Order: sequence, then structure tokens, then C-alpha cells
Amino acid sequence: MNIDVFTLFPAWFDWFREQRHVARALEVGHSFECIDPRASTPLKWGQVDDTPFGGGAGMVLRVDVMEAALRARYGVDPVTLRATRRVIALVPGGRLLDDALVSELAAEPSLTLLCGRYEGFDERILEHFCCDQISIGRYVLAGGELAAMVVSDAVLRKLPGVLGKDESAVEESFSPALEGGVEYPHYTRPAEWRGWAVPDVLLSGHHERIRQWRLEASRRRSLP
Ligand SMILES: C[S@@+](CC[C@H](N)C(=O)[O-])C[C@H]1O[C@@H](n2cnc3c(N)ncnc32)[C@H](O)[C@@H]1O
Repeated sequence: MNIDVFTLFPAWFDWFREQRHVARALEVGHSFECIDPRASTPLKWGQVDDTPFGGGAGMVLRVDVMEAALRARYGVDPVTLRATRRVIALVPGGRLLDDALVSELAAEPSLTLLCGRYEGFDERILEHFCCDQISIGRYVLAGGELAAMVVSDAVLRKLPGVLGKDESAVEESFSPALEGGVEYPHYTRPAEWRGWAVPDVLLSGHHERIRQWRLEASRRRSLP
């Protein structure tokens, strides 16, 4: 997997890149890079945005600036790029990210994530350069950077070899192993605290009964 994030704030991702599973993804050969459209802007003084036609508050990311950034990175017209590479704009009103979409993205060889800022993107960027528009929830963040981290985090942890042996994506919320339901409850030591006891079955050492109990607990929690 090769993830490229186009952002005006690449330094935000320094922390993200150091997180354990992201660092492991890089070790096993995946890549995660940030591209700053300011570096390739054809405009003076590093300008990347402008005021909206028709008036209104805020600044809009310019289509010529995003075209220059995508061309500089990939060496092709961004209109044709999207036939060979999944180019995604992060927008509040886009397709909602869920586990099925994360699995779909994790099956791609490469992703390009475009982070908006201020008032967002010139509509022609979305229309002509992007394959999809994705939202991480029905609320508005100040920029696409946190959304890009959410998408990348969820995608990278689905890739083989990225999670450590003490972590697993096989049996967790929304996985086929739990019939797409939410995960069962977990407990650890102490077995009793202030009279709050751990269910006996989990202390029984009886693997089949534990498996059954967990599946039933997951089913109960997943009821609409
Ligand atoms: C302040 S928002 C722009 C909001 C836009 N004017 C609107 O009303 O839909 C700036 C940028 O943050 C990102 N963003 C904000 N909320 C998001 C969300 N829920 N999911 C994905 N991206 C989001 C997008 O890239 C967006 O262009």
C-alpha cells in the first residue's frame, strides 16, 4: 500500500508516522508520504487558495494549484490519474467511512488523500481529479488532516503483518468472525473489584464455552 496525503500541514503527520502500527507498516514495505501543494504552486508567495466567487466567508483551495501538485507528484494529467489511482477528497458531506469502505480501500495498491482547509475545495477538483469523496462523520473539522489520519489508520491496520501478534483484526467489531457485529466485552485482573465480578465462564478455561459466550454477547450487543 502506498498512501500519499496532500496537505498544507505536513508536519501534523510526523506524530502519526511514529505510531506503532504505522511505523510497522513502513518497516514491512508500505509507504506513507505527505505532499504540500505550496511546494509546487504556480502562484506567487506560495498562494494556494482564493476568495469564493459569489462572495462569502473563507478561502477556497484553487483547482490550478491542486492540478500542479498532482502533476508534480505523478507526472500525468490528474484527469487521467484517477483511472489508475484512487484519488479521494476528504469532505464532510462525502460517503461515510465504515468498515466495508475501509476494507475496499485496503484492497487498493495505492491511495491519494486530499485534505481541504478553510472553506474547502474548488468544486472542479472534486469533479475532475477525484474518484471519491469520503467523510469520517457528519460534523465539520477545521481541516482534512485528522480525517486523513483516521482513514489511513483504519486502512493500514487491515494490511497483513501490520498489527503485532498481541493485536488482531480478525476477531474485532464488524469482522466476519463476529458476523459483522460489535465486539464482546473484555475483562482482565482483578477478577473482582468492589463486588464487580468477571463472568465465571471467562475464568473456566473452557475454550468452547468461552467462544460461545463471546459470540452470544456480541450478538446481543449488536441487536438494533
Ligand atoms: C472547515 S472544512 C470545510 C467545510 C465546508 N465548507 C462545508 O461546509 O462542508 C475544511 C476541510 O476539512 C475537511 N473536513 C472537515 N470535516 C470533515 C469530515 N467530517 N470528514 C472529512 N473531511 C472533513 C475537508 O477536507 C474540508 O475541505
